[in-house]
Amino acid sequence: MKKPVALVLGGTIVHVPLIEKLKQRGYWVVLIDYLDNPPAKQKCDDHLQVSTLDRDDVLQAAKRLDASLVINLCLDQPIGIAVSISEELNLPHPYGQMNIKAVTDKAVMKQRMLDCKIPTSKFLAIERKYKKDLFRLKFPVIIKPVDSTGSQGIVIANEYKEVMEGVGIASNKSLSGRVLVEEYVDGIELNVHCIITQSKSQILLIAKKKMVEYGNRFSKIFIGSEAPFELDHNEKVELNLLINDVVKCFEIKNSPLLMQLFLKEGKFTVIEIAARIGGGVGQRLISTMTGVDIVDMAVRQYHKEIIHTPNFIYNDFVVGTIILYANPGVFKEISGINTNEESAYIHESFSFKKPGYKIPEGISSKNRIGALIIRANNRKELAERKREVLECVEIIGSKGEKLLNRKLYQ
Ligand SMILES: Nc1ncnc2c1ncn2[C@@H]1O[C@H](COP(=O)(O)OP(=O)(O)OP(=O)(O)O)[C@@H](O)[C@H]1O
Ligand SMILES: [Mg+2]
Repeated sequence: MKKPVALVLGGTIVHVPLIEKLKQRGYWVVLIDYLDNPPAKQKCDDHLQVSTLDRDDVLQAAKRLDASLVINLCLDQPIGIAVSISEELNLPHPYGQMNIKAVTDKAVMKQRMLDCKIPTSKFLAIERKYKKDLFRLKFPVIIKPVDSTGSQGIVIANEYKEVMEGVGIASNKSLSGRVLVEEYVDGIELNVHCIITQSKSQILLIAKKKMVEYGNRFSKIFIGSEAPFELDHNEKVELNLLINDVVKCFEIKNSPLLMQLFLKEGKFTVIEIAARIGGGVGQRLISTMTGVDIVDMAVRQYHKEIIHTPNFIYNDFVVGTIILYANPGVFKEISGINTNEESAYIHESFSFKKPGYKIPEGISSKNRIGALIIRANNRKELAERKREVLECVEIIGSKGEKLLNRKLYQ
């Protein structure tokens, strides 16, 4: 008998376990990705080199293959396409198109937060020219495309004359050309990973993000995280109330929920929410610390299966990630993760790129080379282990040159 076809949009690392799970469910899995050799390609049954952002092409492929499932679990814009095609073809999907805009378009999302009184920074959504006297935000401001991810096109402006330039940079990275300008928030930046079941929220893991400033016109680059981040009693209460407000406000019923927020003096400010799994290795941190398989839960929710909030206790160790970035060159391999004594500290390693990948100028999440998960007994030991691992790890270029961008980690 012919197997039902599942189209997976995007060959990212998160979709490796997704494809495995879909195969276990009996699907013939076709990966859609414009790259010729994305990380998840090795696992799929077939690969169509089509852009996940080209709705018409994806729709045609879904019709031609008589797909029974069109799915994406972790990427903002392809999720919107997967949901709208699933709606059109009457295939299972976790929520409707009406909701998807609010959780994937930063301007719609911020307006929704404002309407629901969810603490977020003041903002301006720019769709056309605006006048200086209408600009009432406090500097510095951060300017970003409304519909991009991976910190692409994000610029800080310290004064008004930098705003126009920033708007140009950000709009170039926006699919719709629309831009959000918002007041700069400081504090500790956190990723809060939750699962929502029947509108009930549960925090799975809180990770503290380490960002560094990069480039002369600012960009904040994510270089690693540490988890679990401990909150005090009042912060816990406040965060749970906030998550419940978000769940109500965005009408999230059954979905993973990722919240990006800042914590300062016991107060939270939400930067962004995503009704999906994080696009990086966050799902691996969750399973390492809790044993909870969030990819499996998301697949079940996509199929409209009822799941229950998981019971777990944290393991008695801590974990941290190191995100690997490189200087320009041709990527050959990541070295120093298997051969050294320090490799014992590396719990898991990921290579996002294949040999031959041309590493471009500039640092963005698109040209992350890999990631390492480090395990330790406590925070102090984790910091030492991270340092030791970084001394040994290297990104090797095709001519044997050392390409790891060490400056970022100093
Ligand atoms: N209002 C703000 N104040 C201070 N920093 C901010 C603000 N908004 C964003 N940032 C910083 O820029 C980073 C990227 O912002 P944002 O999440 O909005 O963009 P993104 O394209 O969705 O990136 P990512 O995919 O990495 O989450 C954040 O992780 C944060 O460090
Ligand atoms: Mg974000």
